[in-house]
Amino acid sequence: MRVLVIGSGAREHALLLALARDPQVEALAVAPGNAGTAAIAEQRDIDATNGAEVVALARGFGADLVVIGPELPLVAGVADAVRAAGIPCFGPSREAAQIEGSKQFAKDVMSAAGVRTAVSEIVDNPAKLDSALNRFGPPAGQAAWVVKDDGLAAGKGVVVSADRDVARAHAAALLDDGHPVLLESFLDGPEVSLFCVVDGETVVPLLPAQDFKRVGDGDTGPNTGGMGAYSPLPWLAAETVDAIVEDVVKPVAAEMVRRGTPFTGLLYAGLAITSSGPAVVEFNCRFGDPETQAVLSLLESPLGQLLHAASTGSLDSFGALSWRDGSAVTVVVAAEHYPGRPRTGDVITGASAPGVLHAGTARRDDGAVVSSGGRVLSVVGAGADLSAARADAYAKIAGIKLAGSHFRTDIAKTAAGE
Ligand code: GLY
Repeated sequence: MRVLVIGSGAREHALLLALARDPQVEALAVAPGNAGTAAIAEQRDIDATNGAEVVALARGFGADLVVIGPELPLVAGVADAVRAAGIPCFGPSREAAQIEGSKQFAKDVMSAAGVRTAVSEIVDNPAKLDSALNRFGPPAGQAAWVVKDDGLAAGKGVVVSADRDVARAHAAALLDDGHPVLLESFLDGPEVSLFCVVDGETVVPLLPAQDFKRVGDGDTGPNTGGMGAYSPLPWLAAETVDAIVEDVVKPVAAEMVRRGTPFTGLLYAGLAITSSGPAVVEFNCRFGDPETQAVLSLLESPLGQLLHAASTGSLDSFGALSWRDGSAVTVVVAAEHYPGRPRTGDVITGASAPGVLHAGTARRDDGAVVSSGGRVLSVVGAGADLSAARADAYAKIAGIKLAGSHFRTDIAKTAAGE
């Protein structure tokens, strides 16, 4: 099988590494990729949100399967273009990708599917902002205001704050930019990311994971695209995962089919485990980053065959997935100033070791690997338990040099009992 992966992050590096372990995968290409993915896949520089360019590349490469990593090409309809060209594609249609592309669409689907989620309200008129904030903040018994960009914002469109001025300023800035704002009730409890391979009503869950969205230790500072993750979750009962699949993901998948927008690809349920049970924080239409780097490092089943089965209507006969024993921890190494405007162009050393996945990296003409984005590397540690996996990840980071870079030191620390 020849597989083309679309995207350029550490998630795509993780996908490529897992695909390369599948004995039926004979060749890999990636577009646009990064300095790390170039070592394991043919690298092509195209506009990944342009369906015609992706189809031309897939045809030229002779792809038997196209796997689309990021949300932007999916929301732009690239999977539709690939399927229309007769090439199996792992990724939802433009319409089904609205489960991530429009928070209001996701709320409508969840409501019709009877799935528990936060109470919410869309505000698109600045004159209505203050009265809406009054209905949602701590005075109404919530621990904090939750203010989201209704559209795509790479994880950075969300502000959760007990300070009304902070919440209001974020909402007002979004409205000034012409973005509708979603106000939500606050869901208290630890968060879980459950990735499910979905084709229509067939749902195959991967191991649950947890990510760390704030930039600083102790969940301080602004939100980011994700600073670390771990899998599996020792504190989450297997029955709870089963309940999430049965009561959340399957009803949503069935509702998507009922609406005539069946979902084929990776349906990512982000949930809070509240005192009254799991409740959905958000759905995404693709693998999560940086959880994928940890989750796929534990997968033993052949990923290429799994994604091909989902893309060709045979997921229901794929069988149960198998996983390595032990735990995995991902720690993101970010460029100076991230999540603000990152410093780029700095030389990175020590980034070719096993378990060091690349995101914002590029190869300079002189051969040096340099930083080219905010989240530069995802370092994946493995071990018999979370403590061992944490120790492995941080030992690998000690071998990496990137001027001005920073990372969290507490990824999976509480879950490891440290
Ligand atoms: N882990 C957060 C995201 O992928 O959106």
